Amino acid sequence: MSLPSVTIVGTGRVAHHLLTALSHKTKLIQIIGRNQQELIQISSSFAIPWTDEFNNLLPADVTIMAISDDAIPEVTKNLSKVLTPKSILCHTSGSRTLNDISQVWPFAGIFYPLQSFSHERKISFDNIPIFITASDRTVQNRLTQLGNAISKKVIHINDADRKHYHLAAVIINNHINHLIYLAKKYCEDHHLEFDLLQPLLEETVLKASKITPFHAQTGPARRADEETMSEHIELLEEYPLFQELYHLLSESIFLTYHHENS
Ligand SMILES: NC(=O)c1ccc[n+]([C@@H]2O[C@H](COP(=O)([O-])OP(=O)(O)OC[C@H]3O[C@@H](n4cnc5c(N)ncnc54)[C@H](OP(=O)(O)O)[C@@H]3O)[C@@H](O)[C@H]2O)c1
Repeated sequence: MSLPSVTIVGTGRVAHHLLTALSHKTKLIQIIGRNQQELIQISSSFAIPWTDEFNNLLPADVTIMAISDDAIPEVTKNLSKVLTPKSILCHTSGSRTLNDISQVWPFAGIFYPLQSFSHERKISFDNIPIFITASDRTVQNRLTQLGNAISKKVIHINDADRKHYHLAAVIINNHINHLIYLAKKYCEDHHLEFDLLQPLLEETVLKASKITPFHAQTGPARRADEETMSEHIELLEEYPLFQELYHLLSESIFLTYHHENS
């Protein structure tokens, strides 16, 4: 069976990356969005028609909504009025449920790539897990076919497990990245060279993957070095939220390892 043809709704980060990954694999039918400038640019890059009107929707086997989580229910409702019968409608969100679509459109799916996408980074889908949730076996098979065309890791999953993975992903990516941002800002505020921390940054991620994050932990909280931690808390006086984060994270590390120090 040939790969399903695809229409993408949205002109943001995931839309761009999916278009890039799918463009050499399957027929792209259309791009739909609100931002005309973006639509025109995408249309010319990928040689596909664009529209900002749901009424102009062209028939496609699969329509993927790569839009903000909160917009999914409203856009689903609008699309359900114009979709071709039996075509599949899916979203790319880790946290929204299948029900968000299936209560309005019966051929519902989720096509969630477990990765962080930014405009500034090119990324291969080869090793990105694609989590698929589907309303029935036919939808599951079609989305699996699409997933297999771009990734070696297509996984069928229920809403509850996908939400758990999403939460873990937010911590691993968004929260850790924010801590790196705070540390960089702290360096800049104190006229220090953040670049000198680059080898440490790289080793941190590598080491957690190689020897497990439990074994990779070092530092004053693991050693229960109270004086060092108090000094750090004092140094963060001008950054009350960052100071609170330092305190809470140190507490969590201390409690994880306190059997070693008692
Ligand atoms: N970025 C990631 O790392 C990542 C990874 C996996 C999954 N996801 C999921 O993929 C989806 C898209 O994320 P993203 O990062 O690509 O977001 P994004 O870059 O912020 O883009 C969001 C898109 O949604 C559109 N949109 C927002 N509200 C809308 C509405 N009411 N009607 C129509 N379009 C609307 C925006 O249009 P305008 O430009 O006109 O506002 C924009 O095109 C989300 O469900 C997200 O959870 C994201």
